[in-house]
Amino acid sequence: MTEHYDVIVKKRQVQADNVVVLEFESANALKLPKIEAGAHIDVHLPNGLVRQYSLCQNPKQEGIFRLGILKDPESRGGSICAFDELQEGTQLKVSAPRNLFALDEAEHTVLIGGGIGITPLISMAYALYEEGKSFELHYCGSSIERAAFVEELQQGSLAAYTKFYFKQSGDDHRESLSAHFKQLNHTSHVYTCGPNGFMDWVIDLAKQNQFDDSHIHKEYFQVETDATGDAFEVYAQRSDKIIMVSAEETLIDALAREGIKIEKSCEQGVCGTCLCDVLEGEPDHRDVYLTDEEKAENDQILVCCSRSKSARLVLDI
Ligand code: FES
Repeated sequence: MTEHYDVIVKKRQVQADNVVVLEFESANALKLPKIEAGAHIDVHLPNGLVRQYSLCQNPKQEGIFRLGILKDPESRGGSICAFDELQEGTQLKVSAPRNLFALDEAEHTVLIGGGIGITPLISMAYALYEEGKSFELHYCGSSIERAAFVEELQQGSLAAYTKFYFKQSGDDHRESLSAHFKQLNHTSHVYTCGPNGFMDWVIDLAKQNQFDDSHIHKEYFQVETDATGDAFEVYAQRSDKIIMVSAEETLIDALAREGIKIEKSCEQGVCGTCLCDVLEGEPDHRDVYLTDEEKAENDQILVCCSRSKSARLVLDI
């Protein structure tokens, strides 16, 4: 069971017109846990949706959770509700922090954020700074006016480590970072978060510069997942149930229909919560959570979005 906390919005600040920076404190005697850099929490929004947002504070700051949420008109209702309805004093439920984007030990760490994807990287940068580690932070965006956290990054302890690239000021991150990567030692670790196309570009750049897959870390915060496809059969071995997954339903919904509840969170193949072991059959991986190598092993599946290439899948559930 995921641990939950009742929190209250203690501080709320709108930055760059469309990003709300929120600080939560515990609403009761239960102290909020210490966070790890790269972690996120599930936020139970007033409209009933549950959304994941990265924590963006210095991990040494205890007793608070800080988030930066972009009001995205294209969103499915989560970010607009967070932006409009989470006011100072609002009480809500959040999960304990979970970390699917943790920092690895490295001689040097390169953090590259696009837009609101800067949030987990800010917390990583603070952690590396506090530990006296070698790192650099790159913040890419369309314009300084539309970028949050600029003042903090320009004036605070991370200023000497941060480089900004704003297209409108003529600073194209592609050109600058392509040149910069040629100087980097490929034993460094690269972490990126941002829009999908942006991250794909960073990942390709790292690969072209001989970075090993295990040194490239990414966190998707929003993806378009197509979970539709042909019908297939699933045998849930531990429950001893045969379940047909129709073309119109997801695997996780078909399992729930038959009483097999799998914990879920993002429902987009991003967070890894719904991971199950595959005993037989070939999954049709639709997620962005597993690496290409993990997908090729075919022994795990994210049941919120993935399907089956074989007529039958056997799962260890
Ligand atoms: Fe997040 Fe399935 S619920 S990957």
